[in-house]
Amino acid sequence: MNRRLLHPGRRLTNPALPLAARRAHGYLVRMERADKIAPSILSADFARLGEEVARVERAGADLIHFDVMDGHFVPNISIGVPVLESLRKVTRLPLDAHLMIENPEKYVEVFVKAGANSVSVHAEVCKDIPAMAMRLHDLGARASIGINPETDVERVLPFAEHLDMILIMSVHPGFGGQGFIPGALDKLRIVRRELDRRGLALDIEIDGGVKLGNIADVKAAGANVFVSGSGIFGHPDYTAIINQMRDKIAHAGASVRK
Ligand code: DX5
Ligand code: ZN
Repeated sequence: MNRRLLHPGRRLTNPALPLAARRAHGYLVRMERADKIAPSILSADFARLGEEVARVERAGADLIHFDVMDGHFVPNISIGVPVLESLRKVTRLPLDAHLMIENPEKYVEVFVKAGANSVSVHAEVCKDIPAMAMRLHDLGARASIGINPETDVERVLPFAEHLDMILIMSVHPGFGGQGFIPGALDKLRIVRRELDRRGLALDIEIDGGVKLGNIADVKAAGANVFVSGSGIFGHPDYTAIINQMRDKIAHAGASVRK
């Protein structure tokens, strides 16, 4: 089977139709993707990591966001392949590996083989985005490209057809618990509008400083995958906070989007 057929560019509309016709037929509605809450285990208690993952799974998380840092691409070192491999054995949730590392092409295979279901590689260090996407698809993983706060969306948008997800950083990567950079909202709007225009149903993931107080704004701006580290693990009741986040997302309303 050609796995690539299962991946975007799943174009949901007929791009050959003139814009006015697509509008008239309601084709320019947002390409709805399911909303997913992705706790970032960077803020979990690493001494009890399996238990923490089980707790957020029971609390209703959709994905486990797994932050990998190499001390070069970002000024911090976190966790890597053996930890991901161990978590693979204790959770059924998809593992969403976020590689904040240089030379990602050297490491994607080992992360997928260890159990990552989706892999985000940063545009700033990815020499050939279509080749990287093809490699990830051939390995059996979903392909995502991330961009840092200072990186323009144009670095990734031309390659959207090859991808399953675009990750927009709303903090400078490297540490959990930082404040949300508001400029990320504009990026979300631009990316969502452009994907809708092209009829592409990619996930848009937002990562950094997402909390109960801003998750509705982030949803309204176009994100549908919500990474939250300190916003979830810093709360005493994971079920309560995830439910409250879902409620905010449900009431955010796409109509706010311009
Ligand atoms: C930052 C990481 C994030 C981080 C998010 O470099 O990529 O995933 O853990 O943590 P919060 O939600 O606390 O900003
Ligand atoms: Zn991350």
